[in-house]
Amino acid sequence: MATQSGITIDGPDKPYTIVSNLPRPIPGSKQALVKCLAVGLNPVEPLQQHTGLLITEWPAVIGSDFVGAVLEVGPECARLRPGDTVYGCAPLGQNRFAPFQETFLVEEGVVFKKGDNISIEEAATVGAGLLTAGLCLLAGAGLKLSDDGTRAPEKDEWVVVFGGAGTVGQFAVQIAHACGYKVLASCSPSKDSIALKSGATATFNNRATVDDQLAQIKKVTGGNFARMIDTTAYGYDIMVKALETCSTAATKYLTSVDDWSPFNTPSAINEYRASLGHLCRLDESTGAQVTQDIAGWISTFEAHLGTGTLRPIEYQLFDGIGWESVIKGIQELESGKAAKKIVVRTQAE
Ligand SMILES: NC(=O)c1ccc[n+]([C@@H]2O[C@H](COP(=O)([O-])OP(=O)(O)OC[C@H]3O[C@@H](n4cnc5c(N)ncnc54)[C@H](OP(=O)(O)O)[C@@H]3O)[C@@H](O)[C@H]2O)c1
Repeated sequence: MATQSGITIDGPDKPYTIVSNLPRPIPGSKQALVKCLAVGLNPVEPLQQHTGLLITEWPAVIGSDFVGAVLEVGPECARLRPGDTVYGCAPLGQNRFAPFQETFLVEEGVVFKKGDNISIEEAATVGAGLLTAGLCLLAGAGLKLSDDGTRAPEKDEWVVVFGGAGTVGQFAVQIAHACGYKVLASCSPSKDSIALKSGATATFNNRATVDDQLAQIKKVTGGNFARMIDTTAYGYDIMVKALETCSTAATKYLTSVDDWSPFNTPSAINEYRASLGHLCRLDESTGAQVTQDIAGWISTFEAHLGTGTLRPIEYQLFDGIGWESVIKGIQELESGKAAKKIVVRTQAE
């Protein structure tokens, strides 16, 4: 059996260990074997290391956002060929799909092929953020992106995004903007240029009091909004109040990245909670739906990433190449000091 290096965790809250005896997986019919070139770090990595969230086998290999070079393809692969560069978000909790190792498997229907207009480092910023924002806004709030990568004509209606300067938030702003909406985004005041650069028309302070945030939403939108997305997991109560007291829409949508807290959304509001962590879990109804939705959007997202209507987000490239750098990058993420999304190169091309 061919073996390879990577990072393992022996159990919840156990340290990261660099090993060289991981089995090299063999692609199934519509899968490709990919060499990991770079990873983007997300809050789910430390969460999985501390709690074992969604992990189905120990020792576990983890990782979410990746960029990789296709080495081999399964017999029924139609989209991917050896030599392609692919990127996206890995299905969580199953070692053979995990990017923190030399090679891993991808399902060809749920990954992006990298175009020349995006660098390897930029591609590592896209997966989880774009797919999670897509779940909320396309599956949860009924937005529709054009198939050809163009921005929809301007609509006289607002979408409100909580956390427009975070990873998921920047993609949420971009998607709503690409669908033609005016976007009001919350963020730390020091980060409003990030939300504006993504396409927000206006911002408000996400650390202001609930009453101040509601007043800002009402003042800017005049109540002309039906759809809200919380990309922070701090915004639920304000979303409910804003939809109940500020929105003049007949049909209202509350969408969130928070799929773990108890919600008690009034029945007049449509609620949707993203569950990207269930991607490719086809034996679960949530996993099957998430996978079907994402597979149906890949070519549309690729068209928008090709034209630049949707763009990678700003990142900081972590020092060094390899697994030691990935572990240090996660520690930097956990320290709360990272000003931008952390990208780490894992192997030379
Ligand atoms: N359910 C799913 O499928 C799914 C998928 C992906 C991510 N997630 C979850 O989504 C959340 C965001 O992920 P991310 O990758 O976008 O993280 P991120 O880039 O670190 O963004 C965090 C966001 O939270 C905001 N924030 C932090 N503390 C806050 C506070 N006290 N009050 C209000 N806002 C606050 C930040 O705003 P400022 O930086 O402007 O202060 C920023 O917008 C995480 O909880 C992650 O676990 C869920």
